[in-house]
Amino acid sequence: MDTSLVAIALLCSLLGASGQVVGNVAGKPVVKKVTPIVIPPAAAKLFNRPAYGFTASYYGGQTDGGSCGYGSAQQSGYGVATASASTPLYAAGLNCGACFTMSCQGSQRCLPGNTPMLTVTNLCKAATGPCSGNKRSWSLAPDVWNGIAVNPNVGVVPVRVTRVPCQRAGGVQFKVLVGNPYYLEVLISNVAGSVDLAKVEVLVQGVGYWQPMKHDYGAVYSISGTNLANVNFSFRLTSGYYRESIVIPNAISGMYEPGVVLDTNVNFKLAAPRPVVLRGRKIMEESTNATLLISE
Ligand SMILES: *[C@@H]1O[C@H](CO)[C@@H](O)[C@H](O)[C@H]1NC(C)=O
Ligand SMILES: *[C@@H]1O[C@H](CO)[C@@H](O)[C@H](O)[C@H]1NC(C)=O
Repeated sequence: MDTSLVAIALLCSLLGASGQVVGNVAGKPVVKKVTPIVIPPAAAKLFNRPAYGFTASYYGGQTDGGSCGYGSAQQSGYGVATASASTPLYAAGLNCGACFTMSCQGSQRCLPGNTPMLTVTNLCKAATGPCSGNKRSWSLAPDVWNGIAVNPNVGVVPVRVTRVPCQRAGGVQFKVLVGNPYYLEVLISNVAGSVDLAKVEVLVQGVGYWQPMKHDYGAVYSISGTNLANVNFSFRLTSGYYRESIVIPNAISGMYEPGVVLDTNVNFKLAAPRPVVLRGRKIMEESTNATLLISE
């Protein structure tokens, strides 16, 4: 590691350690401004680099009620350009809400020239076919499919995908799925940027420290406790690749109604895309590695 990398790593760890909420005075999180994050070189690798070796097939509807937990296309705010990802691309739900552009190449069944954007909202899993085992495949809602393939009946097509930072209007959204004095289960959506949440922590009003939340499935997280009624909940989200943390004070107040989507005004900042320099075979090999798309 050269000295500049060490400096960046040090800066990142300092930022990570200081966080944003620095205390909890009488149940009120004290929020401090955080210096914009320096993007570690590893983060740049994830984005804007085309990866090959995937297939896609047509899914004859919206990915409503998908594994991520977002609910219907209208409720989720992700629109109709959605996709189900096969097991390695779904990454145990860490890629829920992640954004990709896709193009179809190398087949007469392809509609060339288009690169529609998609959001992952579901897991595609089957005993046989393109979504079985560890195959890298996508099952596409009509709005994405119709951009890349000649018609819905052509079966499986070869695609190339590029992961892109998600642009989202407004702040991170929370929806209480289950709430009682002992248990809180929330759906987290509309996350911008790299979306891969390496850490989700909660500050329960009256409790003086951040607690990690359990990742239940998809974009759903929970916490157990003994005094979760009529208290406010603040959240700290940390993205895996950017190592950036955001704090959302009182995102859920004690007066919440289960099932209602709660808007906040805090979100990750968008990282500036880095130019892609394709240097022949080496990069191509690297790019075919699906781990580039999967949070580790
Ligand atoms: C709880 O949240 C509500 C709504 O955001 C806010 O008005 C109130 O001040 C919060 N209470 C505490 C103790 O932070
Ligand atoms: C993908 O990358 C990881 C980490 O660099 C490596 O361990 C693995 O062998 C690669 N897999 C393939 C199929 O190239």
